[in-house]
Amino acid sequence: MSIAVATEIDLNSQLVLDNEAVSTLFLDARTANSWSDEEISDETLQAIYELTKMGPTAFNSQPLRLTWLRSAESRERLVPHLMDGNKEKTRTAPMVAILSFTNEWHSLMPTTAPHMAGSLMEMFEGDLAGRNAMGSNNAHLQAGYFIMAARAAGLTVGPMTGINPAGIDAEFNADSSHSVIMVVNLGKPGVPSDRDRLHRLDFDLATVTL
Ligand SMILES: Cc1cc2nc3c(=O)[nH]c(=O)nc-3n(C[C@H](O)[C@H](O)[C@H](O)COP(=O)(O)O)c2cc1C
Repeated sequence: MSIAVATEIDLNSQLVLDNEAVSTLFLDARTANSWSDEEISDETLQAIYELTKMGPTAFNSQPLRLTWLRSAESRERLVPHLMDGNKEKTRTAPMVAILSFTNEWHSLMPTTAPHMAGSLMEMFEGDLAGRNAMGSNNAHLQAGYFIMAARAAGLTVGPMTGINPAGIDAEFNADSSHSVIMVVNLGKPGVPSDRDRLHRLDFDLATVTL
């Protein structure tokens, strides 16, 4: 199978991954709204995390925290805090992940970045705004790794920010340093998307070489 993309270059000749991997991760992967009924095992969830955690973060801070919602009861606690258009697909997805960041990421620096833990902890200890900004930014990066890791495990995903963050934090993150950034539905592929791919911006529009 060769890769068909609207590009003037031969994409295949520039990549080190095989075509199937590139299709699974990027070219054929679509945002999902329906899934098969197949359960997602705990081993698959752990595999997704094992890949996600390897993506780079500033100071190796790794602020992403995940809450897996497997039970119907936990799902029903989440649904009222989603935009209407996101409710049914979240009820029917085999697995739902709440992605949050912790603003206490700096307290793990002795483990995650021992060579600079002292100076970083001193710098960020009294700077909650700085910790929130770093935590949110780097958790969003990790959310991207999470999406690609789930695809690498053969799942299709539906990321959503059509959520009420305050409601989700009150329900799932109360009395913690965690703040939700995104909800992601996951499962084995169901009915393929019947929506045309939306336009992706061309290289010349989105990039400049100096
Ligand atoms: C961070 C993020 C938030 C999104 N939020 C929603 C959402 O709340 N509801 C929804 O239906 N789709 C949501 N989407 C899906 C996007 O619209 C979709 O990924 C994009 O149009 C590309 O679609 P494709 O993967 O099928 O090409 C979100 C996607 C991302 C990455």
